Amino acid sequence: MSNFHVMDHPLIQHKLTMIRQKDCGTKVFREVVNEISMLMAYEVSRDLPLEDVEVETPLVKTTLKTLAGKKVAIVPILRAGLGMVDGILQLIPAAKVGHVGMYRDHDTLQPVEYFVKLPSDISERQLFVVDPMLATGGSAVAAIDSLIKRGAQPSSIKFCCLVAAPEGVKVLQEAHPDIHIYTASLDECLNQDGYILPGLGDAGDRLFGTK
Ligand code: PRP
Ligand code: URA
Repeated sequence: MSNFHVMDHPLIQHKLTMIRQKDCGTKVFREVVNEISMLMAYEVSRDLPLEDVEVETPLVKTTLKTLAGKKVAIVPILRAGLGMVDGILQLIPAAKVGHVGMYRDHDTLQPVEYFVKLPSDISERQLFVVDPMLATGGSAVAAIDSLIKRGAQPSSIKFCCLVAAPEGVKVLQEAHPDIHIYTASLDECLNQDGYILPGLGDAGDRLFGTK
């Protein structure tokens, strides 16, 4: 099975088209990123393990399923990844949230790490690393390297974005071939400034109303 998943559900595609439009304002942009993230969480969590549990319904005792094994942590890459957290928490409310602060140097396009705060038990958790944009792939690779350096299991990491460029997918797959990548769209390419085309612009600025 391929490790690369494009979530082409009609609701996701419709909502992604809304936020790509340049006249979509901060309020709607934020709300719709939240909605898309919730829809994506449904698919990204599809293979969470289940275990049997004995329960008593009002009528009988029976054996049913409950989530088992590794618990989840969501790890947004700051800033823009923050926009995806609440939507996922709506479906997985007990998840812990770690943060990796990473910005792209505007001239070199290289990621610069400025903050890391993670749950102490990340080595035992299923990690959903989230960032709306996978462009050159530098930020995603650096964030995942940082998690692994701090004890995360590569086989427990999934990367979830809204828009991916082929260049970034290649870089991430070469650096971490076993990590599953989930995106709402595989776009065409990067422009000369490292922005995704057609893309949606600067996700952090659009989410937070900066610039
Ligand atoms: C954006 C985006 C990713 C990164 C993707 O963040 O949210 O983190 O760029 O680009 P890459 O794949 O080429 O590394 P940015 O650096 O603009 O920081 P921000 O989220 O704080 O706005
Ligand atoms: N980061 C963004 O926010 N948008 C892009 O198109 C590329 C990187």
